[in-house]
Amino acid sequence: MTETWNPQQYEMFSDQRRRPFADLAVRVGASSPKIVVDLGCGSGGPTLALAARWPQARMIGVDSSQEMLDQARVNDPPGRVEWVHGDVESWDPGQLGSPIDVIISNSLLQWVPSHLRLIPGWIEALAPGGWFAMQVPGNFNAPSHTLLREVAMKSPRAAELLPRLARGEAVSEPAVYLYLLAGLGCEVDAWETTYHHVLDPGGGQRGPVLEWTTGTALLPVFEVLKDEGERADFVAAYGKALLAAYPRQRFGTIFAFRRIFAVAHKP
Ligand SMILES: C[S@@+](CC[C@H](N)C(=O)[O-])C[C@H]1O[C@@H](n2cnc3c(N)ncnc32)[C@H](O)[C@@H]1O
Repeated sequence: MTETWNPQQYEMFSDQRRRPFADLAVRVGASSPKIVVDLGCGSGGPTLALAARWPQARMIGVDSSQEMLDQARVNDPPGRVEWVHGDVESWDPGQLGSPIDVIISNSLLQWVPSHLRLIPGWIEALAPGGWFAMQVPGNFNAPSHTLLREVAMKSPRAAELLPRLARGEAVSEPAVYLYLLAGLGCEVDAWETTYHHVLDPGGGQRGPVLEWTTGTALLPVFEVLKDEGERADFVAAYGKALLAAYPRQRFGTIFAFRRIFAVAHKP
């Protein structure tokens, strides 16, 4: 079952969500790539930023969510990017007919448990001198996620919910990506960063961390809890636990968020 994405909810924190993308993309040293692919492009903001950086490049954004791609097309009136509906697990880079100069994937691979098996094929599809860049959250043991699992554990639907909340198991430590990519013959830059986002400085939101996770981590829960009452009970319990774990400061709510990065340059 795939999650139903809501571009408006996801974009509520677009400044904070863009920061890791910017920190990733700046490490990609391509100067005039001909073909650039953004895997899991979402509503397309980052893809369009890359299109502006490389105006001569053929740009392709791949995503499995029709809702996100519809928004991406709205965000791209001239149709600068080829927006492709597809699952990265079955996406065939060979269909482009030429080697790819840059493959980038920002905040996607935590949703793709098989990604360690897919990466070698993507490196193979790169042109000599090509770049692969990825970023994944590394915060699955942070309260935003442990509390989600705790509330799920106590829910009458625990047996259905818990297996869907194991995404953290899909994400590896930076060293794993380093070894994998270096073993494929690439020069690798792998690192981690913990951002301390200050959410909702104006104090208008009912629960800023809840608003954030409503756009992402809660999606698997919503796929199971379709009944409005059941969903409201879950969100109320989770929201209350989040407010205790992330208390409001006079300047906003601090949301510490660890992320893992790897950039590989093919010789
Ligand atoms: C957290 S969003 C990131 C979007 C964008 N890269 C960004 O940085 O704003 C994750 C995106 O991955 C997409 N996605 C999840 N699983 C996917 C899969 N197996 N194949 C393709 N896209 C997928 C979702 O539809 C969603 O748009």
